[in-house]
Amino acid sequence: MSATIFGPRIMLIGGGSIGRIGEVLDKLAVRHPLIVTDPFMVSSGMISALIEPLTAAGVEHAVFSDTVPDPTTTVIEAGAALMASGSYDGLIGFGGGSPMDTAKAINILAAHGGRMRDYKVPNGVDTAAVPLVCVPTTAGTGSEVTRGTVITDVETDEKMLIMCLGAQAQAAIVDFELTMKKPFRLTADTGIDSFTHALEAFVSQKRNLFSDSMATAAMKRIGDWLERACSHPDDRAAREQMMLGATQAGIAFSNASVALVHGMSRPIGAHFHVPHGLSNAMLLPTVTKFSLEAALDRYAEAGRLIGAAGTGDDDPAAAAKLLDWLYAINERLEVPTPAGFGIGESAWFGLVDTMATQCIASGSHANNPRIPEKDQIVELYHQVWAANR
Ligand SMILES: NC(=O)c1ccc[n+]([C@@H]2O[C@H](COP(=O)([O-])OP(=O)(O)OC[C@H]3O[C@@H](n4cnc5c(N)ncnc54)[C@H](O)[C@@H]3O)[C@@H](O)[C@H]2O)c1
Ligand SMILES: [Fe+2]
Repeated sequence: MSATIFGPRIMLIGGGSIGRIGEVLDKLAVRHPLIVTDPFMVSSGMISALIEPLTAAGVEHAVFSDTVPDPTTTVIEAGAALMASGSYDGLIGFGGGSPMDTAKAINILAAHGGRMRDYKVPNGVDTAAVPLVCVPTTAGTGSEVTRGTVITDVETDEKMLIMCLGAQAQAAIVDFELTMKKPFRLTADTGIDSFTHALEAFVSQKRNLFSDSMATAAMKRIGDWLERACSHPDDRAAREQMMLGATQAGIAFSNASVALVHGMSRPIGAHFHVPHGLSNAMLLPTVTKFSLEAALDRYAEAGRLIGAAGTGDDDPAAAAKLLDWLYAINERLEVPTPAGFGIGESAWFGLVDTMATQCIASGSHANNPRIPEKDQIVELYHQVWAANR
């Protein structure tokens, strides 16, 4: 069996690499890019880390900064209209997963027209309009290296997964210095998102030896450094390790798929606007407990990799220690329950059935080592609400 591996053509990795953006655009023959970012990147001044080297390289550019967290079809259509109104020959996604995903979606619409829902899994396209450079400022979604973009359809409230080569950036600039000012909550949430990518890729039914190599490296790195990055935000080594771990986890899941945690997480994001990493964190222990027996050896290995279990632990013990670690880290990183986040009980239970249907429609549940029926997904949402162990 051979595996197909996708990734960017160029990756710059390391502190200060954003300063080399001109070089990257040159290689891609981009002379007039449209920057896709969000309002905070502009108001906080963070965008100057990108604008200054662009200006120094003499690259004319325009900025679209209307991205919202969990980007919507409304924003994508506005961005695609702006793209069509100018003579842009490239896109730069600058920010967290939301701006990068927005840039990807604009690029697909600009090339193929139609509506974003035309491209959700299992449909997709292999091409996009112009070369795309992604520059993450969170560590993170890994979107800079993935074939994924996640867009909320405002007509159906569905957080749609689009997974195709048309959503792959040609270049990724992975500069941890852009993450140095992330506050505690964002560091924790985005770091758990990365860990979830790695763990889900490692147990995915679509895993392969290559994705395993990225997933294991990422899990170890994130397991070693996540809490340090949260407790010591100025620690450059912790930020650097987390950034690399996020990118490796992105490569892992882009080439092996995420699974049930992400399948159940997207609807929570769409309906209740829980930040993506946080909804993953709310689900991760419960879904892992449900899945444990179906891939005991893999979960055990993950437990050993992150140091929750030792080499002397047999598989059941090591897998149980991984589960304990997942519950414990949620406590240490102050992950709230859905109710603690402010979601009303009747709103949650009123949408549990719809969320389970949307989870199944995304197909991610089918990559899980234990594939749930719809009623089991409903039951898992119940357990997550009750925060049962
Ligand atoms: N394409 C993929 O492969 C993929 C994978 C996982 C998640 N996603 C999607 O990515 C989105 C989430 O992305 P995210 O978690 O990176 O958050 P985000 O992009 O939504 O950003 C969240 C907030 O953090 C701020 N922010 C970003 N970088 C910062 C920094 N360095 N310092 C301070 N504040 C900063 C942003 O301005 C924003 O207000 C979701 O829509 C999710 O579904 C995509
Ligand atoms: Fe994710």
